[in-house]
Amino acid sequence: MSVVQVAEPQGELPYIHGFSAEEQARLVRQARFSESMVYRDVDFAGVERLLEVGCGVGAQTEILLRRYPELNITGVDFSQRQLTVARQRLQGSPWRERAELLHMDAEDLDFAPASFDAAFLCWILEHVLSPERVLAEARRVLKPGARLYATEVMNASFFLSPYSPNLQQYWLAFNDHQLAVGGDPFVGAKLGNMLLRVGFRQVETQVKTWHLDSREPHRRQQVLDYWSELLLSAADQLIAAKRVDEALVAAMSRELRQLRGNPDLVFFYSFIQATAQV
Ligand SMILES: C[S@@+](CC[C@H](N)C(=O)[O-])C[C@H]1O[C@@H](n2cnc3c(N)ncnc32)[C@H](O)[C@@H]1O
Repeated sequence: MSVVQVAEPQGELPYIHGFSAEEQARLVRQARFSESMVYRDVDFAGVERLLEVGCGVGAQTEILLRRYPELNITGVDFSQRQLTVARQRLQGSPWRERAELLHMDAEDLDFAPASFDAAFLCWILEHVLSPERVLAEARRVLKPGARLYATEVMNASFFLSPYSPNLQQYWLAFNDHQLAVGGDPFVGAKLGNMLLRVGFRQVETQVKTWHLDSREPHRRQQVLDYWSELLLSAADQLIAAKRVDEALVAAMSRELRQLRGNPDLVFFYSFIQATAQV
């Protein structure tokens, strides 16, 4: 998430995180930070051709190539800026021969039916106009029996103790803004229904939770720092949209500093990972 909104020319949804270099670097940190939870249950045994929908700066692509040495990945993204960074990152990696990154709208994939053995989506459906259309398109280009994994946000689950009213107010504004521009910060909870509606079978969802307290102080601090960065990266955009003002951002920042020093801090956030078969 970043400061000023920079829309890409193709007319996709305004992207709440923006496309700054800072945000692009944050995506890489985010992917590595959440890697153990996101990939714990992802099984690509026997998969040769993987479609990664919304590959962004290639942060997940890099992890996928490293974790699954048999995979050949086709990554697609609507943003040329993200793709430029992704291609640069890939060029410098030992896995560059196993990936191609293409400029494409996930709602209108330019692939023949049954082109891929599996599909991977991560933190994309909250940003698209029609998540269901993206899932239907993914299904169309998957082979019969192929598996899809989608890992998506469920922002209503976020809670910090001690209760911090300014932070909560900011978070409501953040989510209201994302809804207003056509995204869906609660899309994770709806994945099961959507997958069924577009014809997937064997639909399974898992709620994955960061519930961190004094039992894991180091991890708790890491998660809070990561989250603080994510919250603040949208501040300028939310101010420009008049969803929040400078005073609220300052009050939230104060609360975040207090929380950081609080030995009783509790961090809670759940996201959803769905898997289904064609
Ligand atoms: C939060 S980023 C996540 C990127 C990557 N999956 C990751 O986890 O690092 C969301 C990405 O979805 C892309 N995106 C949004 N709408 C899209 C669309 N309709 N088609 C393709 N990509 C899209 C954005 O350009 C952005 O790169």
